[in-house]
Amino acid sequence: MKHFENINISKERGEHLYIQLYKAIKDLIIEGKLDKDEKLPPIRKLAEILNVNNVTVVNAYHILQEEGLVYKKMGSGTYISPDFLTYASEEKENSRITSFSLMEQGQIQINSDMINFASAAPKAELFPVEDFKKAINEVLDRDKGNAFDYQEIQGYLPLREKLIAYVRRYDIVADINILQVISGAQQGIDIIAKALLNYGDSVIVESPSYTGAMASFKSRGAKIIDVNMLSDGVDIEDLERKIRIFQPKFLYLMPNFQNPTGISYSRSKKEKIMELCRQYSIYVVEDDYLSDLNFYSKDNTTLKSLDRDNEYVIYIKSFSKILMPGLRLGFLIAPTIFYDNLIFAKHSSDISTSGLLQRTLELYFKGDAWDNHIQHIEEEYKSSFDVMVRCIEQYMPKEVHCIQPSGGVNFWFRLPDSISTKELYEDAINENIALAPGSLFFLNEKDDCHFRLSIASLNHQEIEEGTIKIGKIVKNLLNGGNNKLNKERYRPIL
Ligand SMILES: Cc1ncc(COP(=O)(O)O)c(C=O)c1O
Repeated sequence: MKHFENINISKERGEHLYIQLYKAIKDLIIEGKLDKDEKLPPIRKLAEILNVNNVTVVNAYHILQEEGLVYKKMGSGTYISPDFLTYASEEKENSRITSFSLMEQGQIQINSDMINFASAAPKAELFPVEDFKKAINEVLDRDKGNAFDYQEIQGYLPLREKLIAYVRRYDIVADINILQVISGAQQGIDIIAKALLNYGDSVIVESPSYTGAMASFKSRGAKIIDVNMLSDGVDIEDLERKIRIFQPKFLYLMPNFQNPTGISYSRSKKEKIMELCRQYSIYVVEDDYLSDLNFYSKDNTTLKSLDRDNEYVIYIKSFSKILMPGLRLGFLIAPTIFYDNLIFAKHSSDISTSGLLQRTLELYFKGDAWDNHIQHIEEEYKSSFDVMVRCIEQYMPKEVHCIQPSGGVNFWFRLPDSISTKELYEDAINENIALAPGSLFFLNEKDDCHFRLSIASLNHQEIEEGTIKIGKIVKNLLNGGNNKLNKERYRPIL
């Protein structure tokens, strides 16, 4: 009973009391503080201890039961499930996966001499530091202290005007009032989740998908449903079936150079998605993190440009991959009905995006610097992309399947059945190569046959050297050698 007396829930936290209670008991279970088959306190007693309504406890127990953490015995009470140990170890397993995803975002220490195919962050040599320095100084001379004031929640007006002009290049016609500046696409995804999702709502994502988005939706208690990616976009039949069954709040899609697969949707699939939105009155969150890096696609149309009346698509654009991730700048364009809720969510998240950086970006957009930069990185990435395509052709064993993307920085591979990503990952690490295992990008499946290589932070030599080594490791594994390279390296001297 001691553990239950220490539970601390409060109306002031802005989250339903039953959700707080459910999470607190779940934590006790995961931390191993409750024994299997241990009886939970009777509803009335726990309600009394915590000074809450009986219904709060009933609802919390109900969610725990739905998740299989507890079971009910008729007329006797609620008990901790005997399977909870398995559940706890699954949670631990998930936290291992989380550390993988941190690695993807470059937050786990990677040796400086490592060939890092795992990170999709651009290389710092490409950052336009000098032009940005000039723009920052100009902003400080011009705006003085105002540059450090709180900025409007929606964003710095002159920048918003520039962004509206920028998206017109992509055939997106939007009104200034529906554009919100955000501190990176991840925040955009997060405030959309905050503004639109209630506990138990469904969201449909591609399978595989971007881990950071799935984590945001999960954190709002959403039920995430996934739909397989095919070579020309998501499986439309399955998508429609799942829309009918689950009536999701929205779809989260990356129609151009999807992360992690690099796949772009065919034009007909993009149009079909818009048809489904109209037919079922559902929304789609379009994460356009990379459509600027189009090398060979004839069509990098965004869904937003097909949403002429701004009714169904919440469009998110990030400057992380095409400018500098540390700026934490992006923007979203949403249907008018969501706008107020999104402003509230943005405000409660960080009040506003850095005024200094918004003003600097606005000035940076004014001259030729931006156009020159975009042209420069397009050329740089295109040549790296071409090197990668050649290296895959030349060094990757034919048993490894890759759907060649037509742009972007990610390449997605499927291993033959006889080898696992885990083996490949371990052997690659021993060879000082980091790659992103497929399991990071799948919802529940314990994937062990895919991996993603990103060329974003590598030079041509590293791409070539890395692909040669991965090719050799795969060949070695195909020949039945597990960790053979590693063992050879540590052979004792006799
Ligand atoms: C598909 C996708 N969306 C969003 C983000 C987050 O981007 P930002 O740095 O703008 O928050 C990433 C980062 O890698 C991403 O891959």
